Amino acid sequence: MIKKIINISQPIIGKEEIKAVVNVLKSGMIAQGEKVAEFEQNFAQFCGTKYAVAVSNGTAALHSALYACGIKEGDEVITSPFTFVATANSILMQGAKPVFADINPLTFQINAAEIEKKITPKTKAILPVDLYGQVYDAEKINALAKKHNLKIIEDACQAHGAEFNGRKAGSFANAGCFSFYATKNMATGEGGMVTTNDENIAGAIKMFRHHGQSGKARYEYFDLGYNYRLTNIAAAIGLEQLKKIEDFNRKRIKNAIMLSEGLKNIKGIITPTVEENYKHVFHQYTIRVTEDFKMKRDDLIQYLKGQGIGSAIFYPKPLHLHSYFVKMGYKAGDFPIAEKISEEVLSLPVNPLVSEKNIEYIVETIRKI
Ligand SMILES: Cc1ncc(COP(=O)(O)O)c(C=O)c1O
Repeated sequence: MIKKIINISQPIIGKEEIKAVVNVLKSGMIAQGEKVAEFEQNFAQFCGTKYAVAVSNGTAALHSALYACGIKEGDEVITSPFTFVATANSILMQGAKPVFADINPLTFQINAAEIEKKITPKTKAILPVDLYGQVYDAEKINALAKKHNLKIIEDACQAHGAEFNGRKAGSFANAGCFSFYATKNMATGEGGMVTTNDENIAGAIKMFRHHGQSGKARYEYFDLGYNYRLTNIAAAIGLEQLKKIEDFNRKRIKNAIMLSEGLKNIKGIITPTVEENYKHVFHQYTIRVTEDFKMKRDDLIQYLKGQGIGSAIFYPKPLHLHSYFVKMGYKAGDFPIAEKISEEVLSLPVNPLVSEKNIEYIVETIRKI
């Protein structure tokens, strides 16, 4: 018998999504069209922004947002070294330089005080990440951006429905960027969205995703653009997922609370910090396994796997230590907190399909060690 694994992530596709996709397929309008427009409208409403523009994935969302915020060759954009590579790659795609600033070890988010040390006359924007599903330090970082006249592009790819002070992720910056990749809290297979209150940013992204065409005059190209369009097929899935996201997030939060309760007071395990006034939506439930724990983190992964529990490291190496960032002059020791954290983090199953019994089993398995 094959042992059942408690998965770290799994998309939840119901009969509603299947029916919606079949309807689009039958309509014959399978590329970008009315479903995409409806998805944009509903997503903007969900985030509390005036506009939302759909694109083909989260990386395209970040790239488009940087373009629309005027980031270009020679500019510097300050971001976290502790994130998925797409965050920094999107800056490089605009010919700009990713300038890293170290993180806060409790929240894993970029640290406002570290950002301020990195500001130069070339700095044009800050790109904070709502890592694991918790909004960045919006109060301090937004104040910093205002003081230095910088744009903010929020990487909310992991934070659909997360909140700070009752406001939703994607509404704190000049542009908020989302991914609907298969493992995300809401998924369309591949897909992305940019949220904004700025009509010009929304308009620029609509051109950028469509080869620089304005949508009014066909085959009139106003600037370099890409094919970053979303399909009606993906949008139809997104519309159904959007109806379920609050429920999905509720289950994730419930699982996270149970995990934190069960794993408290274990020597060498640090459970996630949720800051006051924040609603963390636990795209990942990430603990720190320090040297005080009975087992090395990497051995723990293998041990859990043997017990039928999936786990994963997001991310095993901070970006500045990868070869092409090293070529830009970064080196070990530049961001000591990100470097230490990347050796300690371990994400445990928290997704809505993980049952109460599964959580009890995960806690019990770790406690036994
Ligand atoms: C923090 C972060 N930024 C950017 C992305 C890029 O999104 P996508 O994979 O949809 O291009 C992802 C997801 O993969 C992500 O987790």
